[in-house]
Amino acid sequence: MSFFIKDIEIKKNVILAPMAGITSFSYRKFMNQFNPGLTYTEMVSDFALIYRNKKTFDMLYTDGSDRPLAIQLFGGSKETILQAIGVIDELNINYDILDLNLACPVPKVTKNNSGSKWLTRKEVLFDMVQAVVKKSDKPVSAKIRLGYDEVNVDEIAPLLEKAGISFLAIHARTKKELYSGKPHFDLLKNIRDEIKIPFCVSGDIYTPENALNALKITRANAVMVARGGVGNPLLIENINRAIDGRNDFIKTDFDRQTNYLLEFTELLIKEKGEKSAFSILKGIAPKFFLNMSDIPNIKNLRCSLSRDIDSLEKMKGIIADFKSTSNL
Ligand SMILES: Cc1cc2nc3c(=O)[nH]c(=O)nc-3n(C[C@H](O)[C@H](O)[C@H](O)COP(=O)(O)O)c2cc1C
Repeated sequence: MSFFIKDIEIKKNVILAPMAGITSFSYRKFMNQFNPGLTYTEMVSDFALIYRNKKTFDMLYTDGSDRPLAIQLFGGSKETILQAIGVIDELNINYDILDLNLACPVPKVTKNNSGSKWLTRKEVLFDMVQAVVKKSDKPVSAKIRLGYDEVNVDEIAPLLEKAGISFLAIHARTKKELYSGKPHFDLLKNIRDEIKIPFCVSGDIYTPENALNALKITRANAVMVARGGVGNPLLIENINRAIDGRNDFIKTDFDRQTNYLLEFTELLIKEKGEKSAFSILKGIAPKFFLNMSDIPNIKNLRCSLSRDIDSLEKMKGIIADFKSTSNL
């Protein structure tokens, strides 16, 4: 069922999660054909914007085909975050929502009081978010975790709502848990009664069943697809179908996955040039051939893609060779 982030209609209940190093414009554009309700940029730093870093400006490029789009900002102080919003305003970007990253666990980020560190500083957090909501001409959202070391989501979620945010994304792990271990959706089962704004949940969404389960426990408006969607774009469409009560899931196969990879690769080369595109693709391309254990030696293809690709021709050649030697 669709829901609203302030005046913006979110038509689907699956959201493409922000992922640094992955959710480039090309990734968002490619994934948007599978119908996520919302996409996010990679997180961008307040200081990088203030210093007008070209690479950071490039991370905010969009032609509008990835909308509704949230720009995700991280920073360690109210002053620098407000300044960075001023810079975003100058860039005239076609975006819909301003998102605050209050979730990142990486030491380089938390040591500057950014990301998940905000979850330990309630008073300054409230003051910062209130000021951001006042300054931004877009609806403001936030992405949090269950807590930093200790779980405090039941305090933070209402505090953020009171400060004026219009949407909340919750990764069902603490900062201490980083990205491993099972997400604790059970600890989010009361949030629906504690805040009125829409919210979505994140953590280990790899199948439509995972998504339905998370939605059932938390009564959230949406789920976020993160690692589970990398190389498996159909996951988004299939979760949409499951939410609509359908079970006619789209199945994939070697050729379909190859076509998806080539489509994404061409977009990425156009955006970043061949050299940068292939350094990113070494981490992503093998994932298009996961879950194909019925194909003997598929591991060899994944290995080769993670190691040997440096041009489109080379990548096509590796896949074609594998296909012919495997009689696919
Ligand atoms: C490589 C990587 C980069 C990420 N970058 C961001 C980010 O920039 N901003 C953010 O809010 N979350 C980020 N996340 C967290 C994801 O959005 C998501 O909440 C988390 O991975 C849990 O979902 P999953 O278990 O389904 O992957 C990142 C996760 C990964 C794996």
